[in-house]
Amino acid sequence: MTKPAFNFADPGFVAGYVEKGPRAFMPGQPGVLQMAGILLAERMPHDGHVLVVGAGGGLDTQALAKAGPDWRFTGVDPAGKMLDLARHILGEETMRRVELIEGGVEAAPAGPFDGATMILVLGILPDDGAKLATLKDIRRRLKPGAPFVLVDRCDSADNPQFDRNMDRYVAFAAANGVDPETLKNARASHRGNPGLATAARDEALLAEAGFGDIEHFYHAMNWHGWVAYA
Ligand SMILES: C[S@@+](CC[C@H](N)C(=O)[O-])C[C@H]1O[C@@H](n2cnc3c(N)ncnc32)[C@H](O)[C@@H]1O
Repeated sequence: MTKPAFNFADPGFVAGYVEKGPRAFMPGQPGVLQMAGILLAERMPHDGHVLVVGAGGGLDTQALAKAGPDWRFTGVDPAGKMLDLARHILGEETMRRVELIEGGVEAAPAGPFDGATMILVLGILPDDGAKLATLKDIRRRLKPGAPFVLVDRCDSADNPQFDRNMDRYVAFAAANGVDPETLKNARASHRGNPGLATAARDEALLAEAGFGDIEHFYHAMNWHGWVAYA
């Protein structure tokens, strides 16, 4: 019998996502989520409302809920199973101040929100207008001057250092115990990924979407984080 891919009743599955998901691939992931909370808190009211784009899995909302004990959250994600996992990881108490909606940012209410995050999602969207449209949809839902935290893995298949960068990416996750099959799939998915973009491209898209005061607050290997303001 095949094991269901998303078995939320299996503590091994949940622990696997927590330990072997973004945390295993992105250097300093817990610290980045802490920084995201600090950067939002700088400009948000204590009872502010945060839009979390790509809220599946719940790790980002979990960290932000600690940073802002009175914040409310609306999270969107087109993957229903990832939202189920988020509900599980966030737990009943935190879920009292979280609304999760299945869909992309266009499914989110108009707000206006006091802050927003999009962590490890922009690189999934093709650079054919979808990235820009998503960033514009986020900015439109923010109050003027509200903070937005963007985190992405950046590169270009044309970069002469692309293979070296992939070796480092895979080596980091391998050192965190990620299994060889997952590593092989992760490596393969990056070369053909139409969403792969350089850090310069992400910054240009942020500016084109109307965000200002763009600040690069995090860079580790090919991972980047920015805070920018609506
Ligand atoms: C690598 S996970 C990151 C999840 C979470 N932000 C974190 O940092 O742990 C990427 C998530 O983005 C979601 N996603 C894919 N396309 C999206 C879109 N157009 N809008 C919002 N989320 C999207 C996926 O379903 C997935 O749950």
